[in-house]
Amino acid sequence: MGMLSGKVAMITGAADGIGRAAVTVFAREGALVLACDIDGAGAEAAAAAVRADGGQALASAMDVSDLSQVRVGVELALTSWGSLDVAFNNAGITGPMTSLVDYPDEWFERVVAVNVRGTWNCLREQIPAMLQSGSGAIVNASSGAGAVGAPGIGIYAATKHAILGLTKVAALENATAGVRVNAVLPGIIDTNQPRNLTHDIPGAMDAFKSAMPIGRLGRADEVAEAAAWLCSDRASLVTGVGVAVDGGYLAQ
Ligand SMILES: NC(=O)c1ccc[n+]([C@@H]2O[C@H](COP(=O)([O-])OP(=O)(O)OC[C@H]3O[C@@H](n4cnc5c(N)ncnc54)[C@H](O)[C@@H]3O)[C@@H](O)[C@H]2O)c1
Repeated sequence: MGMLSGKVAMITGAADGIGRAAVTVFAREGALVLACDIDGAGAEAAAAAVRADGGQALASAMDVSDLSQVRVGVELALTSWGSLDVAFNNAGITGPMTSLVDYPDEWFERVVAVNVRGTWNCLREQIPAMLQSGSGAIVNASSGAGAVGAPGIGIYAATKHAILGLTKVAALENATAGVRVNAVLPGIIDTNQPRNLTHDIPGAMDAFKSAMPIGRLGRADEVAEAAAWLCSDRASLVTGVGVAVDGGYLAQ
């Protein structure tokens, strides 16, 4: 029996990186996975890989900044499988690397829309669905940059702080109702996100590696494992916290 056996799980940002790894880990732990991504073909590929392995998965093309698209995804889970039990709200973007004073307005709007509004959109569709069945667990993707300042990615850092705020409020508002809400704070994880962010800065990935006390970048599956545990009943007393999954980054 996996630790998510029989649970219906919604994962956003499921086409790539941490979300893609989470699709694999959650399915391995027995979840029925709804893979959601703005990249609909990528989400379908993730779901198809689970089905090819004998698991159950569906895909939903979804821009999390659009409430109506999030609603369609949650309804797909409810109509297909009868409940929504757990969710990993992982979709997020960094925007460009530049100082706060030079940050472009259009990127401010987009990063806030995807990271903050997107997380809120997911919470406000998922929580009522979980309350219908009387229990649930949600994990939001914050960041090390959600706990300390991150020069050059200030708006991203602000949104990741906001995600911790949403997490704490959602946890407190639903604590007695059986729905737990937590966050993961990944350190620097070897996905396309940090690579794309620093593609024009020579040696940036090596500098990231040196910033990690563990001496290496994190792997997407290591964050997915933490999210799966937080979503499972094994974490039954854990709610309202941000769990660092960062090789010691925030201990410095
Ligand atoms: N990689 C890191 O070092 C790191 C560190 C800390 C936090 N995080 C956070 O973890 C999460 C996943 O990061 P990653 O490294 O896997 O990123 P990634 O860029 O590798 O993958 C992100 C996925 O989200 C999808 N996505 C983007 N915008 C979307 C939207 N509006 N709606 C739905 N899907 C959307 C993308 O298509 C992609 O499949 C993000 O929230 C990120 O901020 C990552």
